[in-house]
Amino acid sequence: MKKEIKIFDISYDGAGVGKLDGKVVFVPKTLPDEIVEVNIVDSKKKFLKASCEKIVIPSDRREKAICPYFDICGGCDFQHCGYDFEQEIKKQILKTELSKVKYFGKIDFVKSDKRFFYRNKIKLEIEGNKIGYFKPKSHNFFEIKTCPIADEKILKTFPLIEEFLLENQFENLKNIYIKNVDENIGICFLFSKNARKMQKNIKKLDIFNGFSIFFAYGDILESDKTDVKFVFGKQKLEKKSHGFCFEISPQAFLQVNDEIAEKLYDYVLGFCQDKNVVNAYSGQGLLTALISKKAKKVFGIEYQKSAHNCAEKLKEKSALINMYNICGKVEDNLVDVLSKEKIDLIVLDPARDGCKNDVLEAIISTNVNEIVYVSCNFATLVRDLKVLKKEYKISSVKIFDMFPCTANMETVVYLHK
Ligand SMILES: C[S@@+](CC[C@H](N)C(=O)[O-])C[C@H]1O[C@@H](n2cnc3c(N)ncnc32)[C@H](O)[C@@H]1O
Repeated sequence: MKKEIKIFDISYDGAGVGKLDGKVVFVPKTLPDEIVEVNIVDSKKKFLKASCEKIVIPSDRREKAICPYFDICGGCDFQHCGYDFEQEIKKQILKTELSKVKYFGKIDFVKSDKRFFYRNKIKLEIEGNKIGYFKPKSHNFFEIKTCPIADEKILKTFPLIEEFLLENQFENLKNIYIKNVDENIGICFLFSKNARKMQKNIKKLDIFNGFSIFFAYGDILESDKTDVKFVFGKQKLEKKSHGFCFEISPQAFLQVNDEIAEKLYDYVLGFCQDKNVVNAYSGQGLLTALISKKAKKVFGIEYQKSAHNCAEKLKEKSALINMYNICGKVEDNLVDVLSKEKIDLIVLDPARDGCKNDVLEAIISTNVNEIVYVSCNFATLVRDLKVLKKEYKISSVKIFDMFPCTANMETVVYLHK
């Protein structure tokens, strides 16, 4: 049954917040002050989730989304307002979250030059020979012909990929990952483990002339167990940044917004001069290499083998003698480094699930003076800050808008003893 409600706030995940029969209702893609007609899709004990069926009275901040799939896609949260309003909303969301650790200070905001066409990497879902995404929080596929937050060069590959899929009628194809690395396109087709035996006579690979094509076999691309094979085109994906040229693994993490990543790294580097630094969750090693140019010594800790190998190659190629790459889990290696070295600063840049409690407890029981916590998920950031606050004070907070149009944001928190 459809009901009319007024939206009065925005929740931490970007949904509009209203009230119905005394319960809070979350309505994605609505804005404060709007009157909307909603349909309840999920009823929990303490709150309801609803879809917006009709905007009865729109907010004067409402704008038309440029993406034709905005209403059904789970990727973007904020194409229905301008970028200025999106920034205000993000600052407000983080302010509310950080009040939970009693931080009421300034929150700086570094906006992205590009609000659209900024993502250098996307992951496509497959249904038959069609490419698409899933609807929010589901495995319900819908076909796409474009994605206005993806880099334009990536979008140009869509018709080629469709032609390739049609020609080959693959079974066991799970996902397609497309990266734009310094204007070179890498496409990685992820198949289930046993698909290789069935693959004979791949057709039309030559339509990808000039790209780097990889076939991967495994459950998830990032896993060390997944076998990645180069199959066509340019063998290596290389990235130039801050005077370094380094190899990118199709499996490893890469910050998705090049311009913001560069600003973020420059900001982190500002804390590293003449210090002994640990860069925990260090990925392919670019940040570790940059830190090595400023710091006395730097230890990068990363558990994914392909990322660690890239970091090792970068160290060797650039003769970075004060850069040490450790391949393993942060929770298994940090204590050892902290017990052998006098570390001044720890840079933490974990994945969305944040740091393990052991890691945080190990840090607070040492004499490390400073922490720079880089987070892509403010929920786990706040959880981890609650632990770190036992020994550290939050000194500054800066949002780097790595993911415009979405409720995600990269936050850098600087803490000291
Ligand atoms: C958000 S990325 C940051 C990478 C790097 N700082 C960068 O800017 O490219 C997080 C990285 O942590 C790694 N990782 C996740 N859990 C880990 C753990 N428990 N120990 C070590 N590395 C981990 C992932 O493989 C990934 O490369």
